[in-house]
Amino acid sequence: MYKIAVLPGDGVGTEVTAQAVRVLQAVGNCFQKEFAFTEGLVGGAAYDATGSPLPKETLELCLASDAILFGAAGGAKWDSLPAHLRPEAGGILSLRKELGLFANLRPVMVFSSLENASTLKPEVVAGIDLIIVRELTGGLYFGEKYREDLPDGGTKVVDTLEYTSAEIERIIRVAFDLAGKRQGKVTSVDKANVLESSRLWREIATAVGRDYPDISLNHMYVDNCAMQLIRNPGQFDVLVTENMFGDILSDQASVLSGSLGMLASASLGGQTALYEPVHGSAPDIAGQQLANPIASILSAAMLLRFSFNLDEEASCIEKAVTSVLNQGYRTADLMEQGKTRVNTVEMADLIIEQIESGK
Ligand code: IPM
Ligand code: MG
Repeated sequence: MYKIAVLPGDGVGTEVTAQAVRVLQAVGNCFQKEFAFTEGLVGGAAYDATGSPLPKETLELCLASDAILFGAAGGAKWDSLPAHLRPEAGGILSLRKELGLFANLRPVMVFSSLENASTLKPEVVAGIDLIIVRELTGGLYFGEKYREDLPDGGTKVVDTLEYTSAEIERIIRVAFDLAGKRQGKVTSVDKANVLESSRLWREIATAVGRDYPDISLNHMYVDNCAMQLIRNPGQFDVLVTENMFGDILSDQASVLSGSLGMLASASLGGQTALYEPVHGSAPDIAGQQLANPIASILSAAMLLRFSFNLDEEASCIEKAVTSVLNQGYRTADLMEQGKTRVNTVEMADLIIEQIESGK
């Protein structure tokens, strides 16, 4: 039996996670695998119920589970809370830190039926298959931060970008190991012309690269990378970068796939791996079943593959998604003329039907 902690969180997180759980149940039935789901509170929902965005019970549930399926955290309602009580810093960021999930894998794939869905030209996005390896427990997100009143009545603010060589080395190694199973190309993204942390990053990437003679390594400044990602994304295989750069570049890269609603992620390296869509709680469309559940459903596929080694089951989900998209069904974020619009639940229904008929 596989124990899965389900943390829907806030906004569309609750809607898409519910559908990913249904898909996992369908796969479990088809392949005779038993998944036991236990829900936990996190984010704003947890704050409202318990006063904490990451209650002790939730952390304990995560530690006692084999994998975590996470939805999203945050919303306007909690924006004025002090940082440590906010759904983002107090919820998902604390969870990543507490569990030691330093390696965030964000694959960007372009389904052939979605080549026209991107705002970029189809010939630029066709066939793209790259992965962003984002450092997830260091950098600006977790460095010391404070505000200070100045004598002139102004305010001073400080955010600190901190890394140790060990933290850099372990994430770079994740990228090289992954590249070995893919096209054998690592692009290390930094801002070494300005930041000391980036200069160390580049030194370590170069040194680690010597251990992987079959993998090619190039270095790229983050500003150039932002441009290259939309100019010629086909040049990339594995991109590895620090926390904040990875956050920004992954939203940008989602445009290649047609929508942020398509991007799944896995956060590995700690005690229990966590799987979540790259998108956030999307308060503007929450509560209306408008969200695209595919990012969450593909995150569930990653969960099966990485945490449970259930490769066939994971592929079954990915194939079902491919075929439903091929049939022309689209949620609002991907809607084009001539396609059939469906809502969050209907999209999952179609994917489940496909899983059941394909088996
Ligand atoms: C992400 C999100 C989070 C992040 C937010 C919700 C804190 O944007 O997972 O990319 O910045 O890491
Ligand atoms: Mg982000």
